[in-house]
Amino acid sequence: MKQAESHILVIFGASGDLTKRKLIPALMELEKQDLLPDDFAVLGVSRTELSDDDFRERMMEFLSEKDDEKLLKKFLNRLHYQAISTGESYDYPVLRDRLFTIAKEKGIPENFIFYLSTPPSLYEIIPQNLASVELNSSADGFRRLIVEKPFGTDLESAKELNKNLLNYFAEDQIYRIDHYLGKESVQNLLVTRFSNGIFEPIWNHNFIHHVEITSAESLGVENRGGYYDHSGAMRDMVQNHLLQLVGMVAMEPPVVVEADAIRNEVLKVFQSLRPIKEDEVEKHVIRGQYIESHVKGKLVKGYRQEEGVDPESRTETFMAMKFFIDNWRWAGVPFYIRTGKKLPTRVTEVVIHFKKTPHHLFGSEHDSEQQANQLVIRIQPDEGILLKFGMKVPGAGFRVQTVNMDFHYDDLADVRLPSAYERLLLDCMQGDATLYSRGDAVEKAWEYVQPIMNAWENNKDIPVYGYPAGTWGPDVADQLVKGSQWRYPCKNLSNDGTYCEL
Ligand code: BG6
Repeated sequence: MKQAESHILVIFGASGDLTKRKLIPALMELEKQDLLPDDFAVLGVSRTELSDDDFRERMMEFLSEKDDEKLLKKFLNRLHYQAISTGESYDYPVLRDRLFTIAKEKGIPENFIFYLSTPPSLYEIIPQNLASVELNSSADGFRRLIVEKPFGTDLESAKELNKNLLNYFAEDQIYRIDHYLGKESVQNLLVTRFSNGIFEPIWNHNFIHHVEITSAESLGVENRGGYYDHSGAMRDMVQNHLLQLVGMVAMEPPVVVEADAIRNEVLKVFQSLRPIKEDEVEKHVIRGQYIESHVKGKLVKGYRQEEGVDPESRTETFMAMKFFIDNWRWAGVPFYIRTGKKLPTRVTEVVIHFKKTPHHLFGSEHDSEQQANQLVIRIQPDEGILLKFGMKVPGAGFRVQTVNMDFHYDDLADVRLPSAYERLLLDCMQGDATLYSRGDAVEKAWEYVQPIMNAWENNKDIPVYGYPAGTWGPDVADQLVKGSQWRYPCKNLSNDGTYCEL
């Protein structure tokens, strides 16, 4: 494994939620694993006036008190804070001075990573302001820029954002985070496919009937109604996380495991997506919105009653779509994507549905036990892999029953799954962009979904189906998967609503 070089990580938006809930705990985990470089510091930046000690105290709340005291102290000592008006260029000389002072005091080389954990409206201004004080490039050390999603809100704004970032930073300095790619089980997709002799030969249209990707959430929009109502499932989940998953499932083997080799293959998948024209949208894409209902005896609000949401909103909290990848490997294989909020459980999984045997020796074709094989890659929770196949029921005759061969990461008792942010932060520190989205792929993904968003915008006759909170979305989504059915990972939910395998 490459070593992370010494550097200072500058977090813009340091008083925000992401910093305390995700970034600081992830950095502390890296500290515990001894993966941070010895000479490493964090400089939190935002408008709020705080001293270094105030900042440390605030961050303490999100670290575990159970952590080794000495280690915790070492980590907290790495944290610093500088208040500036991030949107104003006149404050950047202050930032620059502070950075160089910390570097000098701590003997850290002039390597800087800038993490934009701010509202997207600042994505254009901060790089420009960094460039105004020559913090965007240097012969004396590296400069990297991490950008959080959303990368634009449509094709045009995404292109504009890329253009602007590229005015000040080169593509190989830009790290666009899609936290799905940091999930251990998503990376394991590549290992499952490309390190096993048994899967890759059958990973194509000759053997696969269809591919299904579900990302269900039991939570609603919580306190993010204002943001979500301008986003919806398409912008929030599909254009980024779910298409990235499609990329991992469908890509060709890369020549080497390197950032551009892998990202070139993902781009090729996006280039092969068969466009859905505006007038085909109604047939291929279903959108829905949760409505008030009783879940486990409790009244649950509908989406339009959520705070910050327009009472007449047509924003989709659920969507399901069918599409094709027009290339040699996937010719004629339907792909289905389904995602939504306020569904019965939280689960993300990829299901490879294999074709049935050509001739049904045992029982009739309609025999419910004569199921086709499925490979279920559980991304979360309960990360693992499940293979479903037919076995003979002991006794007379040839009765076939589907059984599960099930692997759970949890069974590897001594293995801890790192959080997506741990993995991604460490990768950036090591200069490895493999699990970050590249600008051209982001634009291609927008190009693909844009006609769907246009159709929804322009044609008010395309329905937004209501579905009661706590159900699997509108029934009409079933009609997309003709001749088959969605996999319902958990029809019999346990009382606490947790995931269970059928
Ligand atoms: C975020 C979306 O990117 O991903 C959220 O903005 C969503 O709306 C979240 O809940 C899902 O992430 P995860 O890791 O919980 O599946």
